[in-house]
Amino acid sequence: MKTILEIKNLHVHFPINIGTVRAVQGVDLELRQGEVMGLVGESGCGKSTLGFSILRLLRPPGEIVEGEILYHGRDLVRMEEKELLSLRGNNISMIFQDPLTSLNPLFRIDEQFIETIKTHDPQISKQEAFKKAAQVLESLGISPERLLEYPHQMSGGMRQRIMIGMALVLDPDLLIADEPTTSLDVIVEAQFLDLLNELRRQYDLTILLITHNLGIVAQLADRVTVMYGGTIAETGKAESIFGNPLHPYTQGLLASIPNIKLDQPELHTMEGSPPDLVAPPPGCVFHPRCPRAMDICKKERPKAFGKDDRIVRCWLYG
Ligand SMILES: Nc1ncnc2c1ncn2[C@@H]1O[C@H](COP(=O)(O)OP(=O)(O)O)[C@@H](O)[C@H]1O
Ligand SMILES: [Mg+2]
Repeated sequence: MKTILEIKNLHVHFPINIGTVRAVQGVDLELRQGEVMGLVGESGCGKSTLGFSILRLLRPPGEIVEGEILYHGRDLVRMEEKELLSLRGNNISMIFQDPLTSLNPLFRIDEQFIETIKTHDPQISKQEAFKKAAQVLESLGISPERLLEYPHQMSGGMRQRIMIGMALVLDPDLLIADEPTTSLDVIVEAQFLDLLNELRRQYDLTILLITHNLGIVAQLADRVTVMYGGTIAETGKAESIFGNPLHPYTQGLLASIPNIKLDQPELHTMEGSPPDLVAPPPGCVFHPRCPRAMDICKKERPKAFGKDDRIVRCWLYG
């Protein structure tokens, strides 16, 4: 399968008054055309930072200090802002946890669609843009009449769908979804996940699905990347990660979930908590919590072991 995005040795810092938050520390990640990659880990592990880095939408004072993000072979880290602007939405789109923050309460839905479309295609007429928006809504099972409403007139589930419509209207090939269902109740969440699954075929999408909820990942992801303390612990096919987790952190995450089909609040059931990324532990960032830590784990950052589809960064496999 074709690689559409390749992140190599990415480092992201937030310089703050008490030091530097090392939110992403040497991450490698590859996304292949048409797959859903689940990115999981407890909160504070750097998942959103990684997601936002891809489109260089980091909140200040975040900065990419090292590494490459190759999108179809072109490095987004070094790309001119102008060029990046045309990629956003058009080629790579992002949806977030809370649709209200990305929909403007003051404007009708159709106006927001038309503006998005016109930003990327100034020549298009209002009528054509409206038609395009209506088509997208239809593909989401929403009556085009809803375009005439304001965000507050809609349910949370409907707003979430509208937001995905907005993300898809420019026909991107990569969708980054950061905790897209956190604000939805369980039934609406299930419908939304079905929809996402359908859209991925319909639009031939590659999806980076960021979530702390392993149940969602189990339902949707082809492959899974487990992040901990700004680093990748383990990557592999979803079946392998769930069926045979290798990294002690992955094992802990899975063990803390009695039934992964259930919706879980933030995962805090494992002993201890993720490291302070201003002063991350030396060696393996997980060693202070690891039941199987050895001497080397306290001193040296684990290398990536394994091959092809299964990579684990843990000295147990060295
Ligand atoms: N704007 C910011 N300023 C300072 N630190 C930040 C900012 N955004 C995130 N961080 C820090 O970066 C680390 C990773 O956060 P985040 O990427 O949000 O993790 P996750 O999405 O896995 O919950 C955390 O330590 C967080 O406090
Ligand atoms: Mg997050």
